[in-house]
Amino acid sequence: MKRKQITIMENGPYRVEGNVPLDEVIMVSQGGHREYRKARSFQTRGEYLLCRCGRTSTPPFCDGSHCKVGFDGTQTASKMPFEERARVLRGPTLDLHDDGRCAYARFCHREDGDVWSLSEKSADAHLRREAIKAACDCPTGRLVHYDKTADYAQIEPVLEPSIWILEDPDLDVSGPIYVRGGIALVGSDSSQYEIRNRYALCRCGASCNKPFCDASHVDAGFRDGIDSK
Ligand code: SF4
Ligand code: FES
Repeated sequence: MKRKQITIMENGPYRVEGNVPLDEVIMVSQGGHREYRKARSFQTRGEYLLCRCGRTSTPPFCDGSHCKVGFDGTQTASKMPFEERARVLRGPTLDLHDDGRCAYARFCHREDGDVWSLSEKSADAHLRREAIKAACDCPTGRLVHYDKTADYAQIEPVLEPSIWILEDPDLDVSGPIYVRGGIALVGSDSSQYEIRNRYALCRCGASCNKPFCDASHVDAGFRDGIDSK
């Protein structure tokens, strides 16, 4: 079977290979935290093209609009491995590694505090669980805990390889492409990005850290129009 892989086309879409399931998922606020709710599954074949410029009329798929609008999809993000880019916040039972890549999805905030303060209070069993939940729900892979009570094991959610098209109705915007389960990412120059369990790709075309989402879709007021199709 073909390996699951996303290839970035130069100034064009993402080519997804390997029969990767594709869903639309809504981010909702529930009490003082955020949750994911699956809205629909898209019918796909083994390979498909996802829009990267934000201008398609067939969202989330590419319709060739990037050519008409002269999309500049230059990939400017660092390819240094996560651990070399991350800063470390030390807590009593958890260390939090944080590379700062944020899609403003807001899962890092929970009823009892944000992931940074919760990690600092991780001697408390409940707050430790909340810290882990907050980090593991972040779609960008920005936040990774290491367990100081278990040989410094990395704490990552187990994710089936899949792609979620995120929507953020609270802000009335459409969000990034949440890539789950260690799907390979290849640049338009054929160079490989580090394989990660979670990452968020820009699909509004406005990110200053392409191919990754940097939350620019919020300021851009990006709406994909999926619901109106
Ligand atoms: S993308 Fe991650 S770090 Fe940014 S707000 Fe969301 S959960 Fe927090
Ligand atoms: S989708 Fe978030 S910056 Fe483009």
